[in-house]
Amino acid sequence: MNPSVKLKALLDPALAALVPDAAKRAEALNTLTPSGKPEFGDFQLKCAMGLGKALGKKPQEVAAAIVAAIPPNDLIETAVVAGPGFVNLTLKTSAIAAAVQAVAADPRLGVAKVKSPSRFVVDYSGPNVAKPLHVGHLRSTVIGDALVRILTHLGHTVVGDNHLGDWGTQFGMLIYGYRTFLNKDAYKANPVRELARLYLQVRTVAGSVDILSNAFTNFLDKEAFAEDPVAELTRIFVNGTKRAKSDEDDDEGDAKLPFKNPVADAYRLETAKLHAGDIENRKLWAEFMPPCMDEIRRVYAKLDILPFGHLFGESFYQPMLDGVVSDLLAKGVAEVGDGGAVIIRGDGEAVTLIRKRDGAYTYTTTDLATIQYRVEQFQPDAILYVVDFRQGYHFKNLFAAARKSGVGGVELQHVSFGSVLGKDGKPIKTRDGGGKELGDLIDEGIDLGGRLFELSLLERKASGHDVPDVSDETLRDVALAVGVGAIKFADLSTHRTSDYKFDFATMLATKGNTATYMQYAYARCRAIFRKGEVAFDGYTAGGVTLVEPAERALGLQLLRFGDAVYEAAAKYEPHHIGAYLWDLSKAFSTFFEGCPVLTADTPELKASRLLLVHVTARTIQTALSLLGIRTVDQM
Ligand code: ARG
Repeated sequence: MNPSVKLKALLDPALAALVPDAAKRAEALNTLTPSGKPEFGDFQLKCAMGLGKALGKKPQEVAAAIVAAIPPNDLIETAVVAGPGFVNLTLKTSAIAAAVQAVAADPRLGVAKVKSPSRFVVDYSGPNVAKPLHVGHLRSTVIGDALVRILTHLGHTVVGDNHLGDWGTQFGMLIYGYRTFLNKDAYKANPVRELARLYLQVRTVAGSVDILSNAFTNFLDKEAFAEDPVAELTRIFVNGTKRAKSDEDDDEGDAKLPFKNPVADAYRLETAKLHAGDIENRKLWAEFMPPCMDEIRRVYAKLDILPFGHLFGESFYQPMLDGVVSDLLAKGVAEVGDGGAVIIRGDGEAVTLIRKRDGAYTYTTTDLATIQYRVEQFQPDAILYVVDFRQGYHFKNLFAAARKSGVGGVELQHVSFGSVLGKDGKPIKTRDGGGKELGDLIDEGIDLGGRLFELSLLERKASGHDVPDVSDETLRDVALAVGVGAIKFADLSTHRTSDYKFDFATMLATKGNTATYMQYAYARCRAIFRKGEVAFDGYTAGGVTLVEPAERALGLQLLRFGDAVYEAAAKYEPHHIGAYLWDLSKAFSTFFEGCPVLTADTPELKASRLLLVHVTARTIQTALSLLGIRTVDQM
């Protein structure tokens, strides 16, 4: 059904004489791509240039030999050598029509499950529990969720694992804040809000101490201070605050403070006591967790994130850490370094710390225990870490340490991603409460989505269209689908390693590469059926006729869905599905403008065009659902 798969099956024997090695042949076949322009046919094979070089032949001759060796078939209309040695392939329109017909009858739309499924653990979201989610948590959550959906759709076994930060310094900060600044009534009324406030207050107070002590040591003008101490302290504090703001890049609670900071010392002590098993601190930890988790779950629900298979935070692995370190020492993988710290040496100078001098374990120790646990528990073929690019170094060292300790037979992959930028093109600052909470941002998207829909209804009414009344429920559905879809699609249609701007105006644009545009395209398909009073569900047609070029192009595009899904899965890059949707919606739009459906010349043509519309709708819906985005029938 999938033309590129079929073409490869035909081209493989055609290449056999030139490239006897099967793996090399597969490489050569991977140069098969959809053609950029109609005059280049439907597909181009671009391997003749490389092969010519390797074989000492003219690329055109190589290309001609490939063309001559294509076995007889009923798929290819023409195969011609062009330019420096391209093979331009044009498919028979009848073959495209037959394939569209087959896709229409297939609930999977021609996207077959893989023949030998793998087991994946996908580690994603992993927020630090002690503070509200912010926009920085969006990417891991949304990309991870999409990967789970895509891999599952292809028949793989997937465990979504949320490696919560539920054991870090942030809890020490909360405990310290609780003991020092608690507003009891506020806590009773809304524990999460009060905890969020406490976190921020501790962070601000500690930060101010840090700024002031730094400024006092380095920037104090002694004369000015003698003259007017308050004015001079204010001056250096304001300057110090500006400096601190321009330096900040992470949102961790335990940034290295250059000077002694009693507040930071106090909350670190609370963290250490928690880790050492202090009863009171453990009690507070256990008290804080449920409301924090409820809050996180609320945001996941809003974002329409699939339930996690496993929700094992860092705390879960703590009992294993002693064993992990002594095991690594016993195996000779780790060694005792300076002052009693335990380290693993990597390539060159690289050293990974797994137990600090004071006995504390690190992020890496927990991650090593986590790998061990996952390998035993799930026997995965691959563990994917959907985590910010800034942790690249951590994962490089982690994977090296894991390999050294004997972890084999499992792919360990950092599925890295870039930053979310503000409208100004600068990374959104999340520290010190800068940047909105994720829950509020989503609400804003939903609200805007709803208003956009209402506006479009009004506009259609004003321009004389017959617009049905919509219920509040429909309005709410549309708002949710559009608002959440806009946020997700902006993220998932970008190459994950690139940055992107978080800007509702572009995200919610009704024209262009947005979820809204795809959702409208879907609703438009459904509207054609409504208008023609044809039942959408279960629609079938006797045959597919592709008369107009726009029809043929749409048909061909529909057959490419599988390529996009497979590529997204193979590279762990959801944006291939977004890019496909964009191409599909453009092909649909050209078709829609040029090919009347309900008023087609013959009943056969009408039935065939309805089928194209039907498959387009189902493909858009499925593709969006693989990205975790909903469609609505009417917009
Ligand atoms: N909690 C971590 C953070 O916020 C992310 C966890 C990623 N997963 C992992 N296995 N290290 O940075």
